[in-house]
Amino acid sequence: MKQARISSDVEKTVEYYDKLADGYSKILRPWRIELLEKYFTGRHKTVLEIGCGTGNYLAAINVDKKIGIDISKKSLQIAKKRKGLKTARLIHGFAEDLPIKSNSVDFVFSYSALYNMPDQRKVINEIKRVLRSGGVAVLEFQNMYSPVSMHSKLLFDVPQYFMSEREINKVLKEEGFDVIDIQHRQIIPGYLAPNDFRVELPLLKNICLKLIYVVRKK
Ligand SMILES: C[S@@+](CC[C@H](N)C(=O)[O-])C[C@H]1O[C@@H](n2cnc3c(N)ncnc32)[C@H](O)[C@@H]1O
Repeated sequence: MKQARISSDVEKTVEYYDKLADGYSKILRPWRIELLEKYFTGRHKTVLEIGCGTGNYLAAINVDKKIGIDISKKSLQIAKKRKGLKTARLIHGFAEDLPIKSNSVDFVFSYSALYNMPDQRKVINEIKRVLRSGGVAVLEFQNMYSPVSMHSKLLFDVPQYFMSEREINKVLKEEGFDVIDIQHRQIIPGYLAPNDFRVELPLLKNICLKLIYVVRKK
């Protein structure tokens, strides 16, 4: 993708999420918290959220040291006021270039944000850099073969970049991650009916929107 196109896409993304920050601060999907809690252990002292937005999930978890990064200043302003984020380090910056020391984080997660990033491989590479060896990441991607992805691209005026399960597997493997779990969720647009339960039928898995990977750095 050309640099000029990327810059204008970034501006569009910032504008979009600055405008929607208030609305986003009220959306919380319990399964996302349950998934984090499933993989947290006492060894995970430092947690980073990529594209933390208004901090809905970072605020909800119980951990010593929290770091969040986002390009939307308005979202971060809301996050800073949250009870669970008083001592968190909230960074205004790019996921593609994390201002965080290498091998310093135990757990990374990213919900509903990677699909807004044009170079997801670069982000995955940065996650690998900051994670300690054996560190865990929970990463939500959006499936390029989902009809909901296409629908979302037409309906919402924000840049969106989808990947296939095959491509995600390849990138994660090449970047040195072991895949622990893959969850498939959401068949139809969420505003029609809440349907982000785990999908188990093989045919439906191919066309669901969310692909959530739990991976471990080697
Ligand atoms: C749909 S919101 C999700 C926010 C939060 N993760 C949640 O689930 O409530 C996507 C977030 O990703 C952020 N974002 C998009 N591109 C980014 C980038 N390149 N670096 C950091 N944050 C980014 C947006 O500003 C926005 O706050």
